[in-house]
Amino acid sequence: MTVEREKQLAAEAAAQLVEDGMLVGLGTGSTVAYLLPALAARGLSLRCVASSPATERAARELGIKVESFRGPGSVSRLDITIDGADQVARSGWLVKGGGGAHTREKAIAAATDRFVVIVSSNKLVETLTPPVPLELLKFGLAATLQRLDTVMLRDVSPSPEGGVIADFTGPFEDPEVLAARLSSTVGVVEHGLFAPDLVSDVVVARGEEVERIALTA
Ligand code: A5P
Repeated sequence: MTVEREKQLAAEAAAQLVEDGMLVGLGTGSTVAYLLPALAARGLSLRCVASSPATERAARELGIKVESFRGPGSVSRLDITIDGADQVARSGWLVKGGGGAHTREKAIAAATDRFVVIVSSNKLVETLTPPVPLELLKFGLAATLQRLDTVMLRDVSPSPEGGVIADFTGPFEDPEVLAARLSSTVGVVEHGLFAPDLVSDVVVARGEEVERIALTA
């Protein structure tokens, strides 16, 4: 129960960072599930984009306005995005994509002035460890799997873009080196390593306390 309570507290604290009139990116996952009602309860006038169909549905049900993030005429810059993570290292590197939404989440994070990560304290780690979520192009999949070598396909639905969700399971020491390798592997649409320069704030709850942690990068 503590973990759930911490997710809720971190999400509620982050909801207070949103101001009237902002363009807001909404992440995906069980921590964001606490953010949405907290945001709706503030009654602000917001324009939001969602990183998954599940978030879009949940937000709309709460009366939050969700706009498209597809196509050349859609929103191109966001004031703030709030999202969960699977692992957060002191260096500011994240692993995301436990729910397979990391491609859209990264697209939104990269278009955001302030990317706020909300986590329970069990997500803080000294060093990141595998698995690292992947989205792979279906075309040429067997060849991509061979290139990556240590990878496991997940038995889940494809991403909204039709990508295959998988996990890189090989050992790694430096996330920057692995991120560069994955980004340059043909057939990898996106990976779940998020670099510190994407991250503005990490809001973590420990028990009943909420803090913003300082990142070392
Ligand atoms: C979705 O694909 C993920 O990136 C989530 O943001 C991440 O897995 C955190 O999810 P929880 O808040 O459910 O732990």
